[in-house]
Formats: sequence, C-alpha cells, structure tokens
Amino acid sequence: MLYWVKIMKIKEIFKLAINKGAEADFRPKEAIEKLLKRRKEKYEKLSAKEKEEFDLEALENPYLDSRIYHIASDREIKKVLVGIDIEPAEILIAKEIGGIDLIIAHHPIGKGLAHLADVMDLQCDVLNFYGVPINIAEGLMKERINEVARGINAINHQRTVDAACLLGFNLINLHTPCDNLAAKFLKDLIEREKSERIGDLMNLLKEIPEYKTAAKIGAGPKIFVGDLERRCGKIALTEITGGTEGSPKIYEKMATAGIGTIIGMHISEEHKKEAEAANINVVIAGHMSSDSLGVNLFLDELEKRGIEIIPCSGLIRVSRVKK
Ligand SMILES: [Fe+2]
Repeated sequence: MLYWVKIMKIKEIFKLAINKGAEADFRPKEAIEKLLKRRKEKYEKLSAKEKEEFDLEALENPYLDSRIYHIASDREIKKVLVGIDIEPAEILIAKEIGGIDLIIAHHPIGKGLAHLADVMDLQCDVLNFYGVPINIAEGLMKERINEVARGINAINHQRTVDAACLLGFNLINLHTPCDNLAAKFLKDLIEREKSERIGDLMNLLKEIPEYKTAAKIGAGPKIFVGDLERRCGKIALTEITGGTEGSPKIYEKMATAGIGTIIGMHISEEHKKEAEAANINVVIAGHMSSDSLGVNLFLDELEKRGIEIIPCSGLIRVSRVKK
C-alpha cells in the first residue's frame, strides 16, 4: 500500500533523514536546536577569512557525518541503490544495474568522513542520559574525539565521490541519523521487554530479523564480556550511535553510574579489556546487521513513498512497511 505519493528529490530525502534522525536522537529537540544556534553564534564572530573556510552546512545540519556529495541530475527519485559502504565498485554496480536515480551510503565518505569526529559529542549526551556526569563524559571524550579526527586525516576522502562525479551519479550518505534510529529501536525494545539475564537479552536480539539473518552467516549477536547466566542489570545503548567507538576509559565511569550491560555494534580489544576490568557485560549485536537495522528504519520511509530500494554492500534489507 502506498501511504502517499509525493515527488521526492535528493534534498527532500536528505532532509527527511535528518528530521527522522533528530526525532530518534537521545537529545531533546531543543538541545539540537541549541547546538545549531551556538554554531551560528560562533560563525558570526569569525573574521571574513575564517568564514571563507567555514562549513556552512554546519549551521543547518546537526549530523555532519551525513552529506549530499554530488547532484548530477536533480530529478524525481524512484529507484535507489543503498549500501553500508559505497566505494567505486558500488558506483560501477549502479551503472551495470541501470536506472538508479540515487546512491545512498551509510558510512561516511568525502566531507562526511572528514567530519566524523564532529558527531561524537552526541556520545557525551548519551552517556549523561545513562547517568555518567557530563563533565566526566566530556573530559574523556575530548581526547578520543581528537584521536579519531587525526586517524581519518590521511584517508583518500574523495575517491568514491570522484567516481560518482565521473559516472554522473547522485550520491549521499546517511550515518548518524540512521544509527539514531537503530539506537531508539533497541532502547524501546529493551525497556519494554526487561531482559533479566544475558541469555534473555541474546534471545531478544536474535528475534530481530536483521540479527537473525546475520546469525546465519556467523555474524549474529555475540557475548564479548559476560555469559548467558549473568544478570544484565541496567542495559545501556551507549555504543550504537555517535560516530565511532568512544573512550576506553569510560567503562569504569559507566560502572560507577550503575550500568551493568552495554549493547554495541563492535568493540576493539582495548575497549573490551577495559569493560571486563569494570565488570560491565558487553553484548555485540553485530556491525553490518546493526547498521542495516537503522538504515532499514529510514528506508521504510522511502518505501512508503513509493521508492524502489536495491540493497547492496552488506545491507540486510528488511521492510517493516505494512503491506
Ligand atoms: Fe557502522
């Protein structure tokens, strides 16, 4: 069933994603508006030379890891190719398939990747939501945000964007807005179902179709710290949204804040060891599957509007649109 038929162009799709991401954000709407207002005030104080370098999109878009990279033709979008990672290979796939009006990546590329660290502030608010004092969250995240910014500095940011330009494809990416949708979905489910033990939590996650499919190829939810018998305590979704992995020093502070179990998409060995030392259970839901969940929740909005979706590059497409 079509919910409504309205011509969707690239900017409308992008704006819809930003709005849906903001609705699902851990921060209230007013906090996001305040953040944009603060950026505007800072911008106005800049010198003319500094203003030239300023990323003007920052005044309207709270998620700078999500961007419109190339508009080759601003037409009605009827068919989209969507993948977790879009690289030149996927651009060529789009050419082979034919009739693709827009390519949507999940992970940031180009300018969005260069600004990945900008969305990590969100993690401070998420941690604060779960009881970690904001000064501690900000103090520990500051160092980590700088580390991430340095880490992505040397990347060939424009490679995929260049391929899209050369072959004449419209290209955008939607990262944190979709991760926000996944985090909200999981948070609501967990608050509703109240799993007592890690085993119950694992069963709950495995009922989600994206995780069920991932489990079949060996990429389903896994316990990284803890075991099936352990009690969950307070479950926090601190590692689903907000760019990439936060500070490894945060686990001890989480434990002090009363968090018993965290659900993440992925975790490094260093982070895992710190969580273990703090007696925090870690359930890793899965990377591509968790990313797919968030992307799917947005793609349903496009499907409702009559847009055809072709999944690629690790996207496990599951539609929740009532037919
Ligand atoms: Fe991801």
